[in-house]
Amino acid sequence: MRRQERIDVLVGEHAARLSERLQQHREQLFPPDASKELRKFTSGEVADLLGVKDAYLRKLHLDGRGPSPETRAGGRRYYSLEDVQALRVLLEKGTKTPGTYIPGRRAGDHLQVITVINFKGGSGKTTTAAHLAQKLALDGYRVLAIDLDPQASFSALHGFQPEFDLIDGGTLYDAIRYDDPVPLADVIRKSYFPGLDIIPGNLDLMEFEHETPRALAERSAQFFFTRVGDKLAEVQDDYDVVVIDCPPQLGFLTMSALSAATAVLVTVHPQMLDVMSMCQFLLMTSNLLGVVAEAGGNMSYDWLRYVVTRYEPGDGPQNQMVSFMRSMFGEHVLNHPVLKSTAISDAGITKQTLYEVERTQFTRSTYERAMESLNAVNGEIEALIQTAWGRKGAV
Ligand SMILES: Nc1ncnc2c1ncn2[C@@H]1O[C@H](COP(=O)(O)OP(=O)(O)O)[C@@H](O)[C@H]1O
Ligand SMILES: [Mg+2]
Repeated sequence: MRRQERIDVLVGEHAARLSERLQQHREQLFPPDASKELRKFTSGEVADLLGVKDAYLRKLHLDGRGPSPETRAGGRRYYSLEDVQALRVLLEKGTKTPGTYIPGRRAGDHLQVITVINFKGGSGKTTTAAHLAQKLALDGYRVLAIDLDPQASFSALHGFQPEFDLIDGGTLYDAIRYDDPVPLADVIRKSYFPGLDIIPGNLDLMEFEHETPRALAERSAQFFFTRVGDKLAEVQDDYDVVVIDCPPQLGFLTMSALSAATAVLVTVHPQMLDVMSMCQFLLMTSNLLGVVAEAGGNMSYDWLRYVVTRYEPGDGPQNQMVSFMRSMFGEHVLNHPVLKSTAISDAGITKQTLYEVERTQFTRSTYERAMESLNAVNGEIEALIQTAWGRKGAV
């Protein structure tokens, strides 16, 4: 008889081998302690971020005001993101228009919770969520990002190796589980990105999908959909914006995130099969959220937007798809798409976003086109955030 392989054993071995190699890979990428560090930013980049002239930054430095940049070969000045934050505090003190340099919440403004959804894998949820969260942090917002996907790509992009770093837990699951949940603060980690805190994900999150039906049947929990929102309430004063990267499915995790959300971003790759899949997704979302609403869940949002991802301007069928979406959803489609770019996918290979890599690693035009499109998309979202706080036309 042919010898058969035990698939459970085989797959387990493959997983162990792969995990070990990935850990080695990370150590090569980020030696020696294998943790990520954020690069410094040129004075030109910092001037852009702050909306001031480079010459003004130089003057501040020469006058001994604010942080001292590091000067490298050729006299180029570099600032850390901590320096940028110090500059924000300094400049905000001197401005007559509050919020120019520190754009976050003021008294009475509510915490913004943006969920990034679609049940198609590969629609650009994680890429969109990561670039949004980082850009908000670069722009001076206090950001909490939550990886709600058991596949944990967002966490990986931020230097966590889910099955290695989170053996003893540490995902949102610990805080939303039905027995013995921990305070949310216990699972929040500072990232190497000042202003961006992260709750990483891993397979533990699946437990929530399994336990919820039981908890509801046993009536040990009245609702499942309030669990994420209730936890966010514990830390709401510490942040301006929460960004939630959702799994590619409409399970209890996504539903609970949607109930906690104040805004929804649906990523969509403009191709026929993707748009058809999105149609199913929207139908199902509508039905399920209807049920949650009847049970008393919060379903009112500041905004919902579709963002076109991995867009190739020269591609005829894609353009048709985009026009089709605009004709149906009107202003609900963001004006700017995220362009498909090798700069974005190449940065991803080294577990970085475009905001983390240095411009010099890419052809200038490739880098700039990608950066422009990401900044345009994120700028539209920032404007929506500001509008939700009642500040028209800001940013
Ligand atoms: N704008 C883009 N340009 C090039 N590659 C992209 C872009 N957006 C996403 N990708 C790549 O597509 C893949 C899937 O994207 P991802 O954001 O992980 O999707 P999702 O989270 O919806 O599954 C990743 O390998 C990512 O690097
Ligand atoms: Mg993802």
